[in-house]
Amino acid sequence: MTTSALPPADPAPRPSPLDASQWQQPLDTLMTHLSRDYLADEPHLIQQFIEMLGLEYSQRDRIDEATATLVKQVRERAGRGRMVDTLLQQYSLSTHEGLQLMCLAEALLRVPDRYTIDALIKDKLSVADWRAHLGKSPAWWVNASTWSLLLTGRVLTLDDPTDGHPANALKTLVNRLGEPVIRKAMMATMKLMGHQFVLGQTMKEALHRSQQQFRQGNTYSYDMLGEAALTQADAERYANAYAEAIKAAGAAEVPPGTPIPSVSIKLSALHPRYCVGQQQRVMDELVPTVISLVQQGRTHNVAITIDAEEAARLELSLAVFEAVYTSPEAKGWGGLGLVVQAYSRRALPTLYWLTQLSHQQGDVIPVRLVKGAYWDAEIKLAQQLGLDNYPVFTLKSNTDVSYLACARYLLSENTEGLLFPQFATHNAHTLTSLLNMANGRAFECQRLHGMGEALYETLLESAPKELYCRIYAPVGAHRDLLPYLVRRLLENGANSSFVHQLLDERVPPETLSRHPISLLIQRDTLVSHRIVPPRAIFGPSRFTAQGFDMNIHAQYSSFAEAMAPFLDEATQWQAGPLVAHDPLLPSEASSGSVHQVTSLYDHRKVVGKVLWTDNATATAAIDTAEQAFSSWYMRPVEERAALLDRCGETLETHMPELAALC
Ligand code: FAD
Ligand code: 2OP
Repeated sequence: MTTSALPPADPAPRPSPLDASQWQQPLDTLMTHLSRDYLADEPHLIQQFIEMLGLEYSQRDRIDEATATLVKQVRERAGRGRMVDTLLQQYSLSTHEGLQLMCLAEALLRVPDRYTIDALIKDKLSVADWRAHLGKSPAWWVNASTWSLLLTGRVLTLDDPTDGHPANALKTLVNRLGEPVIRKAMMATMKLMGHQFVLGQTMKEALHRSQQQFRQGNTYSYDMLGEAALTQADAERYANAYAEAIKAAGAAEVPPGTPIPSVSIKLSALHPRYCVGQQQRVMDELVPTVISLVQQGRTHNVAITIDAEEAARLELSLAVFEAVYTSPEAKGWGGLGLVVQAYSRRALPTLYWLTQLSHQQGDVIPVRLVKGAYWDAEIKLAQQLGLDNYPVFTLKSNTDVSYLACARYLLSENTEGLLFPQFATHNAHTLTSLLNMANGRAFECQRLHGMGEALYETLLESAPKELYCRIYAPVGAHRDLLPYLVRRLLENGANSSFVHQLLDERVPPETLSRHPISLLIQRDTLVSHRIVPPRAIFGPSRFTAQGFDMNIHAQYSSFAEAMAPFLDEATQWQAGPLVAHDPLLPSEASSGSVHQVTSLYDHRKVVGKVLWTDNATATAAIDTAEQAFSSWYMRPVEERAALLDRCGETLETHMPELAALC
């Protein structure tokens, strides 16, 4: 251990996360806390979780040992892995080529016309060092010709006529075969990837492929591909697909005793304006759609789970969930569940809120705990918005510890009879920890279709016999696959991901099985060194503009408060030419004319007056500007930079007023 990783004591220590007073509060108070914790301090939270988990070194050591044994067994069972896994091993996202392929995959399914696709292929495939990968992978199809084989069915050898520059190998190939051939082959590759992660293009196909798992005592949660609907027609198409899926899943023949199947729903698929700015419309239009799906789920005995999406949608999703859960159609059922993301700094407050909601109504809420699939996007968005902090943890081990803390809460007596824990993970260490802390409490495990098969087969052989696995299985056409596929490629291709390392024989089982708490206490801080605060991405001497997220009630309400005085009818702005004698006051002295300005969104509202300029003032302005420029550009750069900084700071200071004016 270097210096201590523990931050200074919390100035206002809160009760333990396991204290019942945490959830025994009115729902709206819990919602206020949840919103307030959007950017909660990372080290303090993690320190609290570590204390809450209270795992001594010897206990952690036992979990690590059990995990290492499990990892060895899984590796033996898994063998060499499938095509996509091997590909992602070789082209990890930490390599330039891996990133190129990822960009290409990401773009290919989205680009509408083949000319653009061809241009993109030419661009991406000609700039990477593909030759560096030749001979590196044990898999024949990666080794033999790298992607070119996959792309074109042709082996590219080192003797190919290039001028010795590795990048030219692919360029030559592209030139020789032409982009259309490569485009077709790339599309075939995408399909191949799709096949690994998608259970079927139709529910019929998916149910057929489900039979083997049903026979083994497992069950499914079907997810109809498609999210972020852009039009009402899309939203209706997705709603119909969910309804069909519920009917089909309910009618499926399954062996007696099989846990009931479920359908996973993304709210963003069901409404084209699923955002806080349209909250009223969302409540009026989306809630009835979800209620109708719940009704069908109840009729067909198929549970419904609301997936978790971007952090900015959390508060809105909880409002929708509450409205649906408390509707007469859902009351008394206990089949409506929700997903909670442990990478979020407000995962536990979300669980408190759900506990209280269930307590008030008395129907169990199944809660699927995941780590979260939108991490990269959350990081980028926080930087783009210029937030003060990140809404997600910045260290992988912090997310792991948060997951364990949430699991500990879900398995505690706080949630007995209120929340039913469903643990979704492909991480052997997380699973071993869960089995270790369950203490006889019933729970369910979940994995994604196409991932974690060997892990769960091995685990379930020696786990308590009541334990089963629910497999989350996307169903649908390839045209709707893209966002889901990208999340899976990110997950499988990232070096930090457990599944990625599990298949990499170079990583010893013991290294892969180190307890996240042990990894954290070796560090000098509980935040990432590499992920600087969102506003510091250009270095400490150039902070980006400050922003906030209007979708987060706590963030928006303090801004709205600051803006309120400027929205008052009594506030009247005055504007006029800067070079006039008495610039801001429309006075008799000026020969320009004074005009009333009305609000753009309500023409009855007068917001101020503006003095329009006249010829003489305009001419004076041009002269002044010329003089001003010649003296401005002679001033030292530091002085000019400082003035620009001041200008930026002034804009930031007056943001509420300027926003009100806008
Ligand atoms: P691990 O390798 O142990 O963890 C990987 C995760 O760690 C990443 O996904 C990320 O969350 C986190 N992470 C990675 N790097 C960092 C870092 N530097 N700092 C902090 N955290 C980091 N996800 C959703 O968002 N919504 C859903 O509705 C949803 N439903 C799912 C349903 C099922 C059945 C399953 C199995 C997964 C679901 N997921 C969902 C996806 C899930 O979030 C990912 O599969 C999961 O995060 C991978 O976690 P792991 O324990 O398997 O792997
Ligand atoms: C996703 O769509 C599985 O819900 C998760 O990535």
